[in-house]
Amino acid sequence: MSEKWETSMKKLRLARLVTAALAAAAMSVSLAAPALAESPRVPPGHGHGKHDTLRWAAPKGFHIGTAVAGGGHHLEQPYPDPFTSDRPYRRILAREFNSVSPENQMKWEYIHPERHRYDFAMADAIVAFAERNRQAVRGHTLLWHSQNPAWLEEGDFSAAELRSILREHIMTVVGRYAGRIQQWDVANEIFDDAGNLRTEDNIWLRELGPGIIADAFRWAHQADPKAELFFNDYNVESVNAKSDAYYELTKQLLAQGVPVHGFSAQAHLSTRYGFPGDLEQNLRRFDELGLATAITELDVRMDLPESGTPTAEQLAQQADYYQRTLEACLAVEGCDSFTIWGFTDKYSWVPVFFEGQGAATVMWDDFTRKPAYHALRETLAEASRGHRDCPHPRHGGWSRR
Ligand code: G3I
Repeated sequence: MSEKWETSMKKLRLARLVTAALAAAAMSVSLAAPALAESPRVPPGHGHGKHDTLRWAAPKGFHIGTAVAGGGHHLEQPYPDPFTSDRPYRRILAREFNSVSPENQMKWEYIHPERHRYDFAMADAIVAFAERNRQAVRGHTLLWHSQNPAWLEEGDFSAAELRSILREHIMTVVGRYAGRIQQWDVANEIFDDAGNLRTEDNIWLRELGPGIIADAFRWAHQADPKAELFFNDYNVESVNAKSDAYYELTKQLLAQGVPVHGFSAQAHLSTRYGFPGDLEQNLRRFDELGLATAITELDVRMDLPESGTPTAEQLAQQADYYQRTLEACLAVEGCDSFTIWGFTDKYSWVPVFFEGQGAATVMWDDFTRKPAYHALRETLAEASRGHRDCPHPRHGGWSRR
């Protein structure tokens, strides 16, 4: 590690302490009125200039992304589709991020609702939005045990039919967006926490065996040779049984010449648990295999007090987790994609899944910024400053993307 980088990391750690202190001070005001966590002169969702954003602060070539809210749990909530209906939301989505991931809209149940019918409307709209706003797209996802349509899960297909269904799906969906998707989560959550392949609840592994994983990567590569193809999972931030299983599998697949290009940790974190302090070390071992790495779904949930409003300490801890996750990614050369799973609590999946928990994103419901937002922006800006003279293309100065 270079001296310059170490100095930069020291500055980052100092910045973190300052951020935490500022967060605590700011929250003594915002506790009384959480909607005004920032200056009350800035109306919600407005007033922040182009230069005052995450994407502007990011080092050149670094992708700072978010999930695009729609489908999934949103359909059960008393609001219309966020991506198509919420104009302030769309403005912030365009302004703050240079990468987007469809939260649900490219999953099988949405994009392939009947055996012989695809529905590309939502996915097309997101890809077009991304292109208008010079954003990369992460495709999510192709081979998964969840959110598959009933026609597939409950159909009575032979192994040969299932194989042909998966091949056709991958060729059709990946092929449609060829050249327009930076990274695809080809295989999502294929191991359980003990590091065993999900051979019961994953229809593909159960019916076709583990060899189907390599086929999925090969088909995706055939359909879009430019896309980077990833394994993606939760609870793989640390070195543990599950991430070890990915490490062994990717090593084997690479040795066989299978086009696997990346390993990503979702990073659905909780302040209930300690921060995964070996995240950088874990990403680095995949990097050393020659793989790209990424953080794909970061959020940091917490137990909400009875008032429903997090304390200053909780927000400072959350900011610290966001910052350390970003630092770990920035410290690994091949980790140039960092995505948060939604940017506003208004649309977060967390309270829907975890009773009594929430406030997991970087903005309040009205889009005002939390300490975690500021921690991310300052860390990106510091990384840009620290890397200005570095010869690596990602670090070649200030980004204006
Ligand atoms: O399909 C059932 C339907 O049959 C049932 O009637 C209905 C009743 O509530 O629920 C439907 O399931 C919903 C599902 O989306 C289907 O679209 C769930 O309730 C709903 O909670 C679910 O939400 C999505 C979730 O993935 C599903 O796993 C979330 O919006 C989405 O944010 C979340 O995203 C995942 C990533 O894709 C992978 N990593 C974890 C991450 C968070 O869970």
